[in-house]
Amino acid sequence: MNKNPEGLATESATRSIEARDLQLSDRQYRLWAEMLENKTGVRIAAHRDDFVRGQIISRVNELGFDDVEDYFREVSQPGVGNREWGVLLDRLLVKESQFFRHQASHDFFKDRLLSHLRSSRQNQRYSVCSIGCSTGEEVYSLAMTAFDSYQVADQTPAFSIVGIDVSTEAIQAARQGAYSNRHLESVPEALRNNYFKVATDSSMAVKEELKKRVGFFVSNMFDQHCPAFASPLDVIFCQNVLIYLKNWRRRDLLNSFAEKLKPGGYLIVGPGELNDWQPEGLSRVAYPGIQAFEKLLL
Ligand SMILES: C[S@@+](CC[C@H](N)C(=O)[O-])C[C@H]1O[C@@H](n2cnc3c(N)ncnc32)[C@H](O)[C@@H]1O
Repeated sequence: MNKNPEGLATESATRSIEARDLQLSDRQYRLWAEMLENKTGVRIAAHRDDFVRGQIISRVNELGFDDVEDYFREVSQPGVGNREWGVLLDRLLVKESQFFRHQASHDFFKDRLLSHLRSSRQNQRYSVCSIGCSTGEEVYSLAMTAFDSYQVADQTPAFSIVGIDVSTEAIQAARQGAYSNRHLESVPEALRNNYFKVATDSSMAVKEELKKRVGFFVSNMFDQHCPAFASPLDVIFCQNVLIYLKNWRRRDLLNSFAEKLKPGGYLIVGPGELNDWQPEGLSRVAYPGIQAFEKLLL
């Protein structure tokens, strides 16, 4: 088998290799599922088992490994396996997203930003982080709302919105900021006209003025050194990510997010993603249809 300097089979080598009838035993599958959970927290839902098995086997075939064990050993190697792990991860994660996916949470965000702009802290930069931002829809939705809010308050925009995701492919797409017209249907027409320009017959791209207010990082949300957490945040938005984690991981993670907030800052999660538990040092916000918490003042 031809291998590249990192020890992985090259694409040219793999083209000539016919897909073989490789099998993934239940034991091997459990090892992959454990690796995914240990590295990202994500548990594979039972209905996705066949899809995930198929993706692993198809990658083994593409790279021309003789069996799945060899591929597992390769990916498990510290350093050498990281790049290939990134490729596989992109295929295994659910990255579905939409603009203004949960409208009530976006209404709440706007409401609190406008109160901030009316308060004595109005001159302080408003910092927001979207965790598990996928291909950028959540970040650009928040940025459009923020821009409009500064306009309503007649103030110069002074905000930054950062998105993090463990998927390199998703972050590349987010940075590009180009979306099909169909995907943009959930963006109100006035916002679409203000913040997007025509890219092709069937797609539009985010305008520069919006793009320069946002930043995207490939990062694991469990990584305490993630640049998005370098300074205290006004809002952490984390939706449709916790559902993939075990309860104890959700709790640990949200307690760590609570530490990243400024006093008076908000953690906005998806409805039903936490039930009756609440992170330490935060109080539950009463606002219809949402699940959010406010960091207690010192
Ligand atoms: C279903 S998408 C949600 C996207 C967006 N938040 C929304 O609600 O539309 C879940 C995202 O979480 C990301 N993700 C999963 N585990 C992660 C981790 N450990 N660190 C950062 N991102 C992660 C996935 O790559 C995926 O893009």
